[in-house]
Amino acid sequence: MSQNSFSTPMQRRTFCLGALAAAATLGCGGGGGGMTAAPPPPPPPSGALQTTDTRSGLLAEPVPTTRDYRNLGNFLLIRDSGGIYAMTAICTHMGCTVGLPAGSQITCPCHGSVYDLGGGNLQGPAVSPLVHLEVTEATPGGLLVVNTLKTVAASVRI
Ligand code: FES
Repeated sequence: MSQNSFSTPMQRRTFCLGALAAAATLGCGGGGGGMTAAPPPPPPPSGALQTTDTRSGLLAEPVPTTRDYRNLGNFLLIRDSGGIYAMTAICTHMGCTVGLPAGSQITCPCHGSVYDLGGGNLQGPAVSPLVHLEVTEATPGGLLVVNTLKTVAASVRI
C-alpha cells in the first residue's frame, strides 16, 4: 500500500480542485505577460440623435430651459429667448463633460472652466467656446434631432 499525504478521498479531491483553479489562474494571465487591461468604455453615440423633445413643447417652456442629453450624445438642448439650440457638453479645455447650467453659468468640474449659457468662455483654463450643433425636426412638428457631427454658428436657433 502506498503512502500519501491525503488521509481521506475528500482531502485528495479538495487538493485536486485547488490545483486546477491555480492552473487556470496562471493560464489566464497569472504569469503577468498575458494580462490585458479592461477595454475602455465605448464613446458616446454620435451623428443624428433623436431627442424626446419637440420644438413646440420646448418653446412652451420658460426661458431659459435646459434639457440634459449628456447621456444620449453628450450635449445640452437649450431654449432661450431666441429659440432652441444644442451645444456640446464637452469642455474645450481637456474634454471633460461640463455640468448642467446653474443660473446663467455652466461649469466644468475638472479644472473649473466656466461658460455662459451660449457656450461663451467666462473663465479658463478653457479658451474656446462650447461648440453648437445642428438641430432639426425628425418630421415637421416632430421630435428634435441633434447632429453631433454638424456644427453651426452660435447664433443659430430653430
Ligand atoms: S477639462 Fe474642463 S476645465 Fe479642464
